[in-house]
Amino acid sequence: MQFNFIPNDLPLPIPTGGLEAVDVVLTVLLVVAWLVHILFINVLLGASTGSVYFNKRGARENNPVFDRVAYLLTTPVTICENMGALWGVAPLLLISVMFTPLFYAAAIMNSPQWLHIIYGNIAAFLLSYLYKYTWHKLEHRKSLHLAIGTAAVALFLTLPLVFMATVQLYMTPTTWTLNTHFWDALFRADTFFRLVHFYLASFAVTGLFMMIYGTAKRKSDDEVTRQAGDVLVNTGKSWFLLPTVLNLFAGPLVLFHFPSYGIENFFNAGWYWLIILGVVSILGAAYLTIKDFFNPDLSKGKLWSIVGLAFITVLSMATLRHGMRLSLTSEAMAQSKAQSDDFVARSKAASEEAKNAQKAAAVATLSPAEVALEKNGCLACHSADQKLVGPAYKDVAQKGYSDEQIVALIYAPKPENWPDFIPMPPQPQLPKEDAAIIAKWINGLK
Ligand code: HEC
Repeated sequence: MQFNFIPNDLPLPIPTGGLEAVDVVLTVLLVVAWLVHILFINVLLGASTGSVYFNKRGARENNPVFDRVAYLLTTPVTICENMGALWGVAPLLLISVMFTPLFYAAAIMNSPQWLHIIYGNIAAFLLSYLYKYTWHKLEHRKSLHLAIGTAAVALFLTLPLVFMATVQLYMTPTTWTLNTHFWDALFRADTFFRLVHFYLASFAVTGLFMMIYGTAKRKSDDEVTRQAGDVLVNTGKSWFLLPTVLNLFAGPLVLFHFPSYGIENFFNAGWYWLIILGVVSILGAAYLTIKDFFNPDLSKGKLWSIVGLAFITVLSMATLRHGMRLSLTSEAMAQSKAQSDDFVARSKAASEEAKNAQKAAAVATLSPAEVALEKNGCLACHSADQKLVGPAYKDVAQKGYSDEQIVALIYAPKPENWPDFIPMPPQPQLPKEDAAIIAKWINGLK
């Protein structure tokens, strides 16, 4: 069995088989799928934290409304877990196809911690389901129930650490050394500020979600649920506002901790317009929220204006994120492609050279007669000891011809000597000296 360890699709950076148009499709898919994924993840982190927080508050203050808020928040948690993980597969695969050399290098450097995404997720999923479905069973064992919820949240909060370290690492190949590993990537200022920005954004997005969710729950027939809706809307406002304001400071820290060549490319390519757009629309959303901060009735129109403005911000952030990715990686990708091309060219040349050397070595061990047979095309029909189109030379030798007779038969074959064979065409191209050598060699096969 033959294994092709060097893949045919080298050079690595062309996953689309040269179809440039597909690159655009992949990019759009990447931005959109990542955006959907991250919104679910944001709400997952925020809502699971919120649920444990209100569960504890409800127990401490013996307040059934807080307890209801906490319970209501478990539904988005389980939905977001599944949707977040599902939509996360797309960007992960797309990145691994579009930025193969960088992404796999980072995954290898961050191994085995990278695998925490798998077992950390599984454990957190199971704990959060346990937390949700033991709600009524463990009503009188609150500390155990809270411990389960807290463990799930703590685990969920560790997953972004692994992701961010890997993402930061693959986008900054200038920082790689021969022994870079996970902890180096994690304990870096750029990774730290991105994590801060991400966690804050998670709570801001959850705040928006709470405002929508609470508004819906306010219409419930159940009094406690209605009151829980009020709590959700009010909490949502401050959860949205505070992290958003803090992120106005964290954002620039994220931007300016990237390697300077990346920032330069980013600004030169004009991606900063998306920052301006994002900041302006989030300021608009914050302004509308502040204006109605103490107004218990947030009208539907206002709510959707806030959400709409925030969505513009999220969309521009998702797009400029790709801009930063390109700004940081295009040079490295081009270099990697050049190296791959060079590698392919050199290995082709080496394999060609090896083949020629083999041929030369084979010719060197041939007798002059065999060289003459090869050169004059006799071996297309003859072999020394096997019957092919013509008889084996060994069998010709059995005929007991003299060398001269053989020479004569080569130039003027007598097909009647070999009734079982087709007639041999005369071989006038054969030089006399070669004919003599061949004849002697044939007779030597006796
Ligand atoms: C197109 C196929 C073909 C090629 C090329 C060919 N032969 Fe033959 N050769 C035959 C066949 C078929 C026979 C038997 C029938 C015949 O002799 O006509 C034969 C017979 C012979 C015989 C025996 C003749 C006899 O009468 O006993 C010799 C010797 C021989 N070939 C030498 C050569 C040499 C030397 C070359 C290259 C210069 C060569 N052949 C090229 C097909 C070929």
